[in-house]
Amino acid sequence: MTLQATSSLHQQVEIDLGDRSYAIDIGAGLLDAQESYRSLPAAHSAMIITNETVAPIYGKRLERALSSQYAQVHTVSLPDGESHKTWESLNLIFDALLSHGCDRKTVLFALGGGVVGDMTGFAAASYMRGVPFVQVPTTLLAQVDSSVGGKTAINHPLGKNMIGAFYQPQRVVCDLETLNTLPARELSAGLAEIIKYGPIADMAFLDWIEQHIDQLMARDREALTHAVKRSCEIKAWVVGQDEREAGLRAILNFGHTFGHAIEAGMGYGAWLHGEAVGCGMVMAARLSQALGGVDAAFVERLTRLVRAAGLPTVAPVIDAHDNVGRYLALMRVDKKSEAGEIKFVVIDRPGNAVVRTAPDALVAQVIEASVRA
Ligand code: NAD
Ligand code: GLY
Repeated sequence: MTLQATSSLHQQVEIDLGDRSYAIDIGAGLLDAQESYRSLPAAHSAMIITNETVAPIYGKRLERALSSQYAQVHTVSLPDGESHKTWESLNLIFDALLSHGCDRKTVLFALGGGVVGDMTGFAAASYMRGVPFVQVPTTLLAQVDSSVGGKTAINHPLGKNMIGAFYQPQRVVCDLETLNTLPARELSAGLAEIIKYGPIADMAFLDWIEQHIDQLMARDREALTHAVKRSCEIKAWVVGQDEREAGLRAILNFGHTFGHAIEAGMGYGAWLHGEAVGCGMVMAARLSQALGGVDAAFVERLTRLVRAAGLPTVAPVIDAHDNVGRYLALMRVDKKSEAGEIKFVVIDRPGNAVVRTAPDALVAQVIEASVRA
């Protein structure tokens, strides 16, 4: 893949999935623009699904933009947070849809971060056996990852994202202006998913991120436009080849196997998903080094960049008595595991990732080194 530098501030990336193809629009001010929502499936009603944090900032603006196109625009505001990515919240969406008499053409709009996006997508996949939906992501993480590619889910008490469906949106509208109100910690969490695309697919993009990390941290519009666009291009390229994760798509989970263990081990919400992925990528890079795919300089380089993005690079102790055992146990419930065997995304050469198993003893060394780092 080649890096396409751009100076224009409004970009579009196409995701090519045959009759489920769609556009990802990236720019400033798109949330309010009626043109952002043109040529979506015709319907009498629209339902905005958002949360109690995002609704007061952006809810009315989206309602106004949609009201010229839909006779009825309803809003349901969910409790905020990963701990509310549950059946209970999903039912609040169904309650609202049914009580407003929404039909099978009603278009759902996910206004918020990945939590709202994943739940709205799952609601859209299952309400009346499927209604159209649009992603309007307002976190950096959602703009570069979760709103694209059609993975939808809720959590189960026994595992994260364990109940869900593949269901593609009709469109993704990324308004970069919404990132101005994002807390700094959430911005860093999004940068983790941007950094991820470098080692797995595009080392030229990793060079670019290193050169522009200060601008990205300062929310420079031009830098963000390029980072979101290039991330969406890489994700679209992967998903276009392997929509349902028969193989290749798993590389998008670089850092996530360790990261999910950190999230679960610390208790959901203690570490943000992106923070756990940031630290998880450093751990996965160490494992890649132990398996011969990259050298120590690569690990050091990635660690420096993750740190510069404001993300943790030292793994937490999640069990004072048997830390390694607890990491291994939590990683065995990862969705990539088969028959209890943990699958890791590792870098087999810079810019290329593969999925493979690793001896527990080697993984244990990586965990121990990462806790001490
Ligand atoms: P999030 O949705 O919890 O949003 C983070 C916080 O930012 C929340 O408090 C939210 O209310 C707030 N917020 C959102 N937009 C804001 C704005 N513009 N201004 C101020 N505050 C704002 O978290 P996230 O990081 O966006 O998403 C994480 C979720 O995404 C996880 O549940 C993860 O499993 C999921 N995910 C899914 C995929 C996928 O492919 N479907 C990929 C990666 C992550
Ligand atoms: N975020 C991983 C995926 O979409 O497959």
